[in-house]
Amino acid sequence: MSVLITGGTGWIGSHLIPHLSAPLVVSRNAESAKRKTGLPVDQIIECEIGSGLIPSQRLSGVTSVVNLVGESIAEGRWTADKKKSLRDSRIQTTENLVNSLMQADTLPDVCVSASATGYYGERGDDVLVESDPAGKDFLSQICLDWEKATQPLVDAGVRVCHLRIGIVLGKGGGAMKTMLPPFRLGAGGRLGSGKQWMSWIHLDDLVQMILFLLNQSACTGPFNGTSPNPVRNNQFTKAMGAALGRPTFMFVPQTALRIAIGEFANFLFASQRVLPSAFENAGFTYQFPDIESALADIVAP
Ligand SMILES: NC(=O)c1ccc[n+]([C@@H]2O[C@H](COP(=O)([O-])OP(=O)(O)OC[C@H]3O[C@@H](n4cnc5c(N)ncnc54)[C@H](OP(=O)(O)O)[C@@H]3O)[C@@H](O)[C@H]2O)c1
Repeated sequence: MSVLITGGTGWIGSHLIPHLSAPLVVSRNAESAKRKTGLPVDQIIECEIGSGLIPSQRLSGVTSVVNLVGESIAEGRWTADKKKSLRDSRIQTTENLVNSLMQADTLPDVCVSASATGYYGERGDDVLVESDPAGKDFLSQICLDWEKATQPLVDAGVRVCHLRIGIVLGKGGGAMKTMLPPFRLGAGGRLGSGKQWMSWIHLDDLVQMILFLLNQSACTGPFNGTSPNPVRNNQFTKAMGAALGRPTFMFVPQTALRIAIGEFANFLFASQRVLPSAFENAGFTYQFPDIESALADIVAP
């Protein structure tokens, strides 16, 4: 299997790379990609994937593709420019990746393309599985269009899996990077009422999910990349306190957070009770199915 990865220099991609044999990484900056991934320069393809195609000759022999590109939703205020960038860095890049693959000598067998549980939008206590419709907010529309961007590959007979990733919990990045410091200081607490559902996944399980989708030839279509046990924000808060041995009396009001960080606050308060129905049907097994075991692993020294 020869795997091509976009977004391979990112937090998830750099944890996936050690599990792959001689992957090819597409990056906007070869020097920094070499540093971040530890890969030799001949395994890095420098390309402004948002505005151009990957040279066809570099795609020869690629059998599998993992698409993890996308600007961080958590960094910076959601101004009009930032929102355009969040959209373009997922949809234009995926369109360019797909067009590049369509122009290569041979098509890959499989493409695992990132999406997010943001697909479903704010849904209260509804239990959400892959067949549920998309929401109507900004992130839902991005996810919908992001998934649609791979349609030419589907039409050409490539096995395409859309991985609707939940809140990824792991060491050294993602949501934990922001949440751990206040919790460690005993200044952590629930967000608002704490009743909103959080659909989370341990980074190690997410990496195994990507490998599973690459290898299981019967898997196709949307897959919720979440643990089988989503939790309410107040359960999560208690579990963080217990894992760290710290109090969690504080709470963050939505209005205050909205004033402080803008529209991104709505995302933090959104309730999504997502179940990984397709992974369970396909026989995927979790190393960290519950929040207590996941957090114990992550906060361990
Ligand atoms: N982490 C999570 O909790 C989470 C949850 C749901 C979905 N996801 C999705 O999973 C994917 C990977 O997540 P991650 O946390 O690993 O992301 P990340 O660490 O932010 O890395 C994403 C990569 O995308 C590339 N990129 C960033 N901005 C770009 C832009 N404006 N134009 C073109 N390329 C750009 C960068 O690669 P180069 O600099 O090398 O070009 C970067 O390394 C993303 O699509 C993200 O939306 C993540």
